[in-house]
Amino acid sequence: MKVAIFGLGYVGTVTAAGLASQGHDVIGVDVERSKVAAINAGRSPVVEPGVDKMVAQAVCAGRLRASTDVRDAIEGAEVSLVCVGTPSMPRGDTNLSYLARALEDLREAMAVVEPPASGFHSVVIRSTVPPGTGRSVVEPAFRAELLPDGWSVGTAMCPEFLREGIGVEDFFAPPFVVVGTDDPRTRESCANLFDFLDQEVHHVDVPTAEALKYACNAFHAVKVTFANEVGRIFAQYGVDSRDVMQLFCEDHKLNISPAYLRPGFAFGGSCLPKDLRALQSMARERGVDVPLLSSTLVSNDIIVRALVDRVLETGYRRVAILGLSFKMDTDDLRESPNLELAERFIGKGLEVRIYDPIVNPAKLVGANLEHLQSKLSHVSRLLVDEPELALEAAEVVIVATSDPACLAALPGAHAQLVLDINGRLGEQVEHIHGYEGVSW
Ligand SMILES: NC(=O)c1ccc[n+]([C@@H]2O[C@H](COP(=O)([O-])OP(=O)(O)OC[C@H]3O[C@@H](n4cnc5c(N)ncnc54)[C@H](O)[C@@H]3O)[C@@H](O)[C@H]2O)c1
Repeated sequence: MKVAIFGLGYVGTVTAAGLASQGHDVIGVDVERSKVAAINAGRSPVVEPGVDKMVAQAVCAGRLRASTDVRDAIEGAEVSLVCVGTPSMPRGDTNLSYLARALEDLREAMAVVEPPASGFHSVVIRSTVPPGTGRSVVEPAFRAELLPDGWSVGTAMCPEFLREGIGVEDFFAPPFVVVGTDDPRTRESCANLFDFLDQEVHHVDVPTAEALKYACNAFHAVKVTFANEVGRIFAQYGVDSRDVMQLFCEDHKLNISPAYLRPGFAFGGSCLPKDLRALQSMARERGVDVPLLSSTLVSNDIIVRALVDRVLETGYRRVAILGLSFKMDTDDLRESPNLELAERFIGKGLEVRIYDPIVNPAKLVGANLEHLQSKLSHVSRLLVDEPELALEAAEVVIVATSDPACLAALPGAHAQLVLDINGRLGEQVEHIHGYEGVSW
């Protein structure tokens, strides 16, 4: 394919040299003459292991050159990859002016350049941009009425995941290939472009592709900070955190795994809150500041409060809670966020009915029943034996379980709002009136 690449920084240069090495015909564009000159002289404008050699080979083979002239770059090109910078503004928001300028340059150039033989050109954003940018900035820049005759443009977001320092290696083995577009022809162009990677292409909508990159980078930053914070605490207790974390990373069941990474409701139970508090206490005792760990319980409580506020804002007064224990298949109510929800609703004077398949007076025996009736009598009075009884008058339903009896009862409910707090209802949601997710 003939590919134009906008922005010859770390991403643009590696991409240009990488695609040229795979036989594509690549022209890089940059507003900085020195970067363009470097490429044309067979040198990389950025320092990145292996890229100098790739640039030299590609330029020598006649498959890579650069220009400051957009018209030159897009003549006959089927795809433009936009890799311009999206730096922080003083208040942290993203500076999209380089992107907007590059898109404008592209469109203006189309007015004076012959379209490719197919008449179709794909504009693919590789810069990191906030969700919504594609819809509000990129797509509108190429609306049909703004384009010169003969040109038709499709747009996509394909986030780039390379790391500086091993950019070339990452370019040829990315963690995943993600194409966000609503346009079938652009989807096909992207699939062709990345075909050499021999990796499955994840086709998603544009905002998902945009958001993904932020989720990845935030997670990486949180991982570094997490390791450093626990390390700084343990160092005060004579523990070498490198040993701890090495073992920690061997747990692919719970630690390095999808476990605990589903957006949903607050965590709870007998261990997580307790042990986090203990760790915070250890840190305090030795004077170690751990803002990430300290903010975790605060953030967890905000999720509960936000859900209570969301229900109160509806003005509805009758609430059903399906699932009371902190997770399915247990009767453990210790620090259950669902119990906390129930207590806050009761405190606000709402009418609450609760069904839990296990925490159920008809099924509980011995100490558990005694505990429920003595310590949680205000809640135990609200427990009903069948999900239908909880749902019959409810205007709002909080679904905190995927218990089959609850799932079977939900489509028959007359509630105005059904809040799924852990996203386990699957295809069932199609049949539930008033369905909404909590963290999605
Ligand atoms: N650096 C990384 O490791 C990395 C990894 C993945 C994604 N990203 C994202 O990719 C984007 C580019 O990052 P980078 O590190 O390569 O940036 P960079 O600052 O190194 O390069 C950006 C280039 O764009 C050029 N430019 C600006 N406006 C232009 C225009 N109108 N036309 C043509 N060129 C123009 C600049 O002169 C510069 O050479 C950013 O959004 C970044 O967040 C970066």
